[in-house]
Amino acid sequence: MTDFSSLEAELGAAVAAAADLQALDAVRVAALGKTGSISNLLKSLGGMSPDERKTAGPAINGLRDRVSALINARKAELEAAALDEKLQAERVDLTLPAPARRKGSVHPTMQVFDELIAIFAEMGFAVAEGPDIEDDFHNFTALNFPPKHPAREMHDTFFFEPHGADGERMLLRTHTSPVQVRTMVSQEPPIRIVAPGRTYRKDSDQTHTPMFHQIEGLVIDRDIHMGHLKWTLETVVARFFETSSVKARFRPHHFPFTEPSAEMDIQCDRSGGELKIGQGSDWLEILGCGMVHPNVLKACGIDPDVYQGFAFGFGVDRLAMLKYGVPDLRDMFASDVRWLAHYGFSAFAAPNPASGLS
Ligand code: PHE
Repeated sequence: MTDFSSLEAELGAAVAAAADLQALDAVRVAALGKTGSISNLLKSLGGMSPDERKTAGPAINGLRDRVSALINARKAELEAAALDEKLQAERVDLTLPAPARRKGSVHPTMQVFDELIAIFAEMGFAVAEGPDIEDDFHNFTALNFPPKHPAREMHDTFFFEPHGADGERMLLRTHTSPVQVRTMVSQEPPIRIVAPGRTYRKDSDQTHTPMFHQIEGLVIDRDIHMGHLKWTLETVVARFFETSSVKARFRPHHFPFTEPSAEMDIQCDRSGGELKIGQGSDWLEILGCGMVHPNVLKACGIDPDVYQGFAFGFGVDRLAMLKYGVPDLRDMFASDVRWLAHYGFSAFAAPNPASGLS
């Protein structure tokens, strides 16, 4: 039997009648699945004589190809229809006057910037800023990254095309640490600054986005030591999470621009799907820090025999997720107005130490 036209007509009708992707998949399984009608025909080839196979083989294979093509075409049609329906349902007409209830709100990342700045300002820190587009000197060289050192690669840098006579490539800053350099070359110690801003790395998965936010800190003065760094960070973190005490742990780490270097973890409890700071048996990494390397001070014209300092860099998006229970980092950058309405903050309730943070 090499005439499969009635089976083909039957399958064709079933494909056309499939009203959604699920129904279509059922047709696919019934025809092409492990024990589907076409699969069974293909299996029967093994038991045929060579002569029979010569005619049945191309007929069955042709049938399989035509039915698969029909299924794929119908699948594309149904997917397009589903997308159209979704776009129609989620459509926002930007030309309409804004409804009174849709108020703008402050993004959790910006809220956390404001909260941290309020805390640091009260401790005598000023806010410093630097450009997002940096040069090699400020992003790497002055920060004691040796030339061609793998640490430069570690940063997964976005470079621009070479320009000028020396072929220098500008780059998107990979961290806010270049603001340390900009501050030290333009100000005399004592220095106490925080630098909030955007940072960029070629990194994109569930816990990384190519653009993210950091807040850098730098303190330079005479007789600054690790004790100052620890106290400052522990105090800030306790105030930020609005708890009386936070248990912190400093783990040795490596950054070219600090020595010694550490990462700070805070104690937390993640049982029961909820995050509680200051209790439990889990540890969460929240920042990198250390004592400013003498080579960095020298590169910025500060005498390391007279001045010392400490520096730190928080991952701000991460802090926002932790404090405000945002489960997925990518939602933070999706610009979905419904998400913003849920997670955003009133623009009129700017955080300050007197009236509270959030
Ligand atoms: N710049 C570092 C980073 O992005 C963090 C850091 C800042 C570490 C300051 C030490 C001192 O990973």
